[in-house]
Amino acid sequence: MSWIRERTLNWFQLLALKIIRTGHVPKHVAFIMDGNRRYANKQKVAGIEGHVRGFDKLAETLSWCRDLGITEVTVYAFSIENYNRSKEEVDGLMELAKCKFMRLLEEKDKLAEQGVCIRVIGNLSLLSEDMRKLIAEAMIITENNKKATLNLAFSYTSKDEITHAIKDIAEGVKHADILPEDINESLISQCLYTYKSSNPDLLIRTSGEVRFSDFLLWQISNTCIYFTNVLWPEFSLWNLFSAVFYYQRCYSDLQKVVKIQNLEPQVHNDRVSMYLNKLHHERQVMIENMYRSSVQS
Ligand code: FPP
Ligand code: MG
Repeated sequence: MSWIRERTLNWFQLLALKIIRTGHVPKHVAFIMDGNRRYANKQKVAGIEGHVRGFDKLAETLSWCRDLGITEVTVYAFSIENYNRSKEEVDGLMELAKCKFMRLLEEKDKLAEQGVCIRVIGNLSLLSEDMRKLIAEAMIITENNKKATLNLAFSYTSKDEITHAIKDIAEGVKHADILPEDINESLISQCLYTYKSSNPDLLIRTSGEVRFSDFLLWQISNTCIYFTNVLWPEFSLWNLFSAVFYYQRCYSDLQKVVKIQNLEPQVHNDRVSMYLNKLHHERQVMIENMYRSSVQS
């Protein structure tokens, strides 16, 4: 199944889409795609089939987001906690992800046509070398696509992300690149895996579970949260419309919070700017080296 879907909406869905687009549409939506195994159980198919259907639903949801004008999507594709599942399931999920990343590389031209940039956020050191190479290739070949961004949280948890940010900052202080008094919220945000992104406007979690499961905890402090009982593989266009409509009803309250907290981006001093340039450059070089080794092998 392809990552890129053609538009298949009927006239009634298109009408609803037009109406929703007259209101504020969130720019960045995050998804906790939960309920794949319960779906597989319900359908009496193997557990991995639930994840396969979950991927198909992701591709379909991305096309709806594109139609709505949502320009950035972040999905929880594999949590570090998921390594604790059975070997059979972890191997199955990794194999599925590998297949899908290979498919993504084949669809390079389509992604360029649609302007989709792929970023993987997470602890890549926990992944196998071949997986890292595929991920690096996907990121490098799509990095100049500017119309939309898909962030795949893979081998990710927030606590791990924040721990790494703190370690990077501690190293910066140790080498006197920055001073302890330079540490503030903005510096921490810029050291997270998500430093290139704005915070999500809307977070949607499916399957009736009402928790965040260590996903984007730093980034969602002012995000509109929408929980729905539907299992991820059964998520429909109408479920997405309901979530966006909920966001539109919350919009004026959210704007008030943003104004009260004066969430203007902070300007860094030259020392911090230099440190951040160096850190971001090192991360880019790491991805480029993984990419080069994949092209050479
Ligand atoms: C949660 O459902 C879902 C996952 C742990 C995996 C999500 C992965 C996909 C949708 C495939 C995406 C693949 C790529 C390459 C992006 P669950 O297993 O927790 O189901 P349950 O809550 O019913 O037990
Ligand atoms: Mg679950």
